[in-house]
Order: sequence, then structure tokens, then C-alpha cells
Amino acid sequence: MGHNLGIMMQKILLLGANGQVGHALQTTLKPLGEVVCCTRADLDLSSLAAQPDSLDVLVQRVKPTIIVNASAYTAVDRAEAEPELANLLNAQVPGMLGAAAQKLGACVVHYSTDYVFDGKKAGAYDESDQTNPLSVYGRSKLEGERTLSNKCTRHLIFRTSWVVGVHGGNFLKTMLKFAQDRDALRIVSDQQGAPTSANLLAQTTADILQVMAGQPATDPRWGVYNLVAAGQTNWHAYARYVIAQARQLGWPIKIKDEAITPTLTAEYPVAATRPLNSVLDTSKIRKTFGLTLPDWRVGVDEVLQTLTKS
Ligand SMILES: NC(=O)c1ccc[n+]([C@@H]2O[C@H](COP(=O)([O-])OP(=O)(O)OC[C@H]3O[C@@H](n4cnc5c(N)ncnc54)[C@H](OP(=O)(O)O)[C@@H]3O)[C@@H](O)[C@H]2O)c1
Repeated sequence: MGHNLGIMMQKILLLGANGQVGHALQTTLKPLGEVVCCTRADLDLSSLAAQPDSLDVLVQRVKPTIIVNASAYTAVDRAEAEPELANLLNAQVPGMLGAAAQKLGACVVHYSTDYVFDGKKAGAYDESDQTNPLSVYGRSKLEGERTLSNKCTRHLIFRTSWVVGVHGGNFLKTMLKFAQDRDALRIVSDQQGAPTSANLLAQTTADILQVMAGQPATDPRWGVYNLVAAGQTNWHAYARYVIAQARQLGWPIKIKDEAITPTLTAEYPVAATRPLNSVLDTSKIRKTFGLTLPDWRVGVDEVLQTLTKS
């Protein structure tokens, strides 16, 4: 018997448990039931190219009622040079998980990205907008949405952006380091989006699973949702915000505010093309599940405070 009234105790297989989102999920999924964590040490997903059955074997052994896939190939620029590996992890693994889950009657939670869009829309993207990824990473993630949804009816795909957490690497941590070491920084100011905290993603995932885990395949709420913090910013404004907050929190910041200058994406060549507009409309998830999503600064402040204490 579960401790939540009327809700069955779940068995949850969590993949990518050491990533930014995976780490946060270890905590938030606990109240739902037993969480079985899987990291690269337990199963290196790159080995699936040679042994495609090993994921199915793992799933049939654990027999989860819920699979949460926080694993992914997330090195956006490196993916341009390693498309096979990016595709294996981001496109094929979700399909393999979907097939294994469908056999067991389990549901699958998976994460996707703003990079499925080309960023040319004037306003915020909703779930029904035309996709058109600009990079190997974006294409591999879009393909993963397709393989999962084709194999498993009971799926939830959360498209998110600019993930920031205490564990793992991210833009905020890079900025904190640069701000202590460097005299000047140039940051792109023409990409719009919303930094979204790993904790917000993990808590919202748990809240929605409380509602959905027991629902049948016919429930119309299975599907794709945008899931990002409220508000929007650009990388330059985000960097300045992080550095100003860190200074207030007592970090030994060397860089002066005016030495953090804006630049354009076109002037900052990287391997993968990013969308200029990554703003995602969250009406669908808010209305369907009655959620309020906090401003992006709430999650960023929380990460900064935790990093300051540690
Ligand atoms: N980060 C972002 O800004 C962002 C933006 C939009 C969407 N997303 C999506 O959000 C989800 C979570 O992202 P995140 O930021 O938490 O990513 P992350 O911190 O990079 O975590 C990814 C996890 O996948 C694991 N992994 C990678 N290659 C593996 C392999 N060959 N075998 C086994 N495990 C492997 C990593 O293991 P190790 O720890 O051992 O490397 C890590 O735990 C992903 O689906 C991502 O595409 C992220």
C-alpha cells in the first residue's frame, strides 16, 4: 500500500540519475515510491550500439511502473562531430525505453528541448508549432520525441530550456568561474529564453506523476508539454544577473559590471547553430495540471544560494 491516499506505490527506474535534472529527481521522486537509480556506471548507454538488448534486459529485470529518462547526450556543440553517439542516446534510447515500457504497461517521462525549433517565430512557441531543429542535437532530440511517442502511449515529454542546477555543469556555474578569474566577458544578447532550474523540472515531474501514474492509455493528458520557468531573458542579461547576485552573496567577483558586454550570435562562432528565440509558451501544462510556474529568477536565486552555502 502506498502512503498517498488511493495512490499505488510506484517502482521508478530513473536513468541519468547523476545529471542536473536526474540528481534533483532522486529527491522529488522519493514520495512516489521506490526509486531505482541508473547511472553511466550501471549501464553505459553508448554500449547499446553493440548490445541493443541491454536496456530491455534492465527494464524487464527492474519491472518499473514508471521510467524517468533524465539521461541524454547534452554536449550541443560536440554533437556536430559525434552525430552517431548523439543519435543513439537522444533518438534511439527513448524509443527503446518506450518499447520496453509498453510491454510492461509502464509509463515514461522524458525531457526534450527548445532546440527542436528554429527560433524564427515572432512569439512564444506552443506545443503544436512546427519544429525545425538547426543542429544535430536538436534533430536527435526531436527524433527521440518521435521514437518514444510511437512506441509508448503513456508518455510525458517535457520540453525545457537553459537548465540550471547545483549538480553538473551549466552556464551559471561557468559565469561564476569567469567572473572570479577574468577582467572582461562578451556574452551573446540576441538569444531569448528562460533559465529553468533542475529543481523546478524535478518537482513538477513528481507533481504531474502523482496525477498521471495511474491513468490509462486513453487519458488525453499523455503527450508533449513545454515546461520552463516564467519570464524570459537573454544570455548576456542572465550573466549580469547571476554575477550581480553572486557579488551580493559575498562571492569574490573580480569582473566589473560594465566589463560584461553584449555580443551577437553571428559574431560568436560555435559548432552548433542555436535558435534565437527559445521562448516556450507554458499555457498547456499550466491549464492541464493547474500549475503555477515561478519566474526564472526564483530558480536561479535558489541555485546561487545553495552554491554559496556549499
Ligand atoms: N542542459 C540544458 O540546458 C537542457 C536544455 C534543454 C533540454 N535539456 C534536456 O533535459 C534533460 C536533462 O538534461 P541535464 O541538463 O540534466 O543533462 P546532464 O546534466 O548533461 O545529464 C545527462 C545525464 O546523462 C548521462 N549520460 C550521458 N551519456 C551517457 C552514457 N553514454 N551512458 C549513460 N549515461 C549517460 C550523464 O551521465 P554522466 O553524469 O556520467 O555524464 C548525465 O547523468 C535532457 O534530456 C536534455 O536534453 C537540457
